[in-house]
Amino acid sequence: MNRCDSELIRTLLSGDRMQWTSSPENADVILINTCCVRQHAEERALGRISQLASIKRYRPWIKLGVLGCMAQKRGENLFDELPDLDWVIGPDEYRKLPELIGGQLQPDNNLSFLRKQESSLNSKKIFLNAEIQETYYDIIPTSIKGPTAFVSVMRGCDNYCSYCIVPYVRGRERSRPLSSIVTEVTVLLSQGVKEVTLLGQNVNSYRDNSYDFTDLLHAVSQVSGLQRFKFVTSHPKDLSERLVQAMVEIPQVCPLLHLPVQSGSDKILSRMNRKYTREQYLQKVDLVRKNIPEIALTTDILVGFPGETEEDFQDTIDLLNEVRFQGAFSFRYSVREGTAAASLPDDVPESVKIQRLEKVIQLQRDLSRTWYESRIGKTVDVLVEGTAKKSKGFLMGRSPQDEVVIFNGNGTNIGEFRSVKVSEVRGFTLVGELV
Ligand code: 5AD
Ligand code: SF4
Repeated sequence: MNRCDSELIRTLLSGDRMQWTSSPENADVILINTCCVRQHAEERALGRISQLASIKRYRPWIKLGVLGCMAQKRGENLFDELPDLDWVIGPDEYRKLPELIGGQLQPDNNLSFLRKQESSLNSKKIFLNAEIQETYYDIIPTSIKGPTAFVSVMRGCDNYCSYCIVPYVRGRERSRPLSSIVTEVTVLLSQGVKEVTLLGQNVNSYRDNSYDFTDLLHAVSQVSGLQRFKFVTSHPKDLSERLVQAMVEIPQVCPLLHLPVQSGSDKILSRMNRKYTREQYLQKVDLVRKNIPEIALTTDILVGFPGETEEDFQDTIDLLNEVRFQGAFSFRYSVREGTAAASLPDDVPESVKIQRLEKVIQLQRDLSRTWYESRIGKTVDVLVEGTAKKSKGFLMGRSPQDEVVIFNGNGTNIGEFRSVKVSEVRGFTLVGELV
């Protein structure tokens, strides 16, 4: 989501009065897009901001801005924590960025930055967090590099899982108009994009008046020239038979589903306010597998939620063994202030959380290996994204199931689709030959 938002900001700032630089030491404005879904993400962001703030010692006129969820969450308090900070801008206020930066330019010369610190206007600290619930529906990225792109279809979340800060920092769930999404996909294709990923905190609860997510899939599939597309993230409670049916009927939709389960214990699922039971989740998995046998299922696992006993944890391990996901993102619980779970005692000791996380990661590594090995001998349709980093002379691309595939691609260009027969697995990379 943040990669997509950073692209949006890049588009908003693509006027001729500004230039991008890849080295922060040369920048007059440094914007840091942040996430606060877990404590670890916040700690890393704070570390990085302090590091960048040190540039102010020899370039005191520069402007340092924190954007994204952490800006929304901590607001003006960030100015106390980080005295060098100039701007704190929440996720619904990015349209003001061009004006804010424009105000720092010399009036006589568009491209030079105001360097007088004594100007009170210039040194004012600015905090913007709007009540408006943006969708940025009309902002169409102009600088996508490479054959794949994200398309945000909805923002925010109304699910209020008890551990999660997203509804508080990204706001209520709202969808972009279906037509604006179709327009964006059309424009992206004209810029050379070959595959899009529809993006939302909870994509399958997409709604534009009478259109739901299934209608959106049909509409996107009709954009001429779009050979394939993916979508993330789906909430298990909103995964309907109708959606599965659409995935079967629409050949361009990839057989790929990220379906976060979080826990295998009914007690924990209920405390998490996930609105499904273990059994219901497993039924959804069956439904999907029965209809789309080649589906690659992935998930998120959250260990160490308040009250999670050894038995609850074992339920999660059993579920992983039962479902055998292609992959899983696993996390240990960290308290997010203001969420419902923050009022529960954070009673699983840190050492136990770490042990449980390690167990999940190891088990999933083995299960993923089995999945990847089962792909040997199969022919997969690869969209070439670039050259392989570690293997000289090889190209790198992705299968419809989102696996990284490398192969010797004699005469193949980036952005082309190629049939590749898988002959080997290296780590979690498929190695194959052109068919
Ligand atoms: N602590 C740890 N992990 C969390 N996630 C969300 N909130 C928290 C939290 N407070 C994880 C969930 C979610 C993923 C994006 O981040 O697993 O699916
Ligand atoms: Fe957070 Fe739950 Fe919404 Fe996902 S569905 S963003 S975990 S509240």
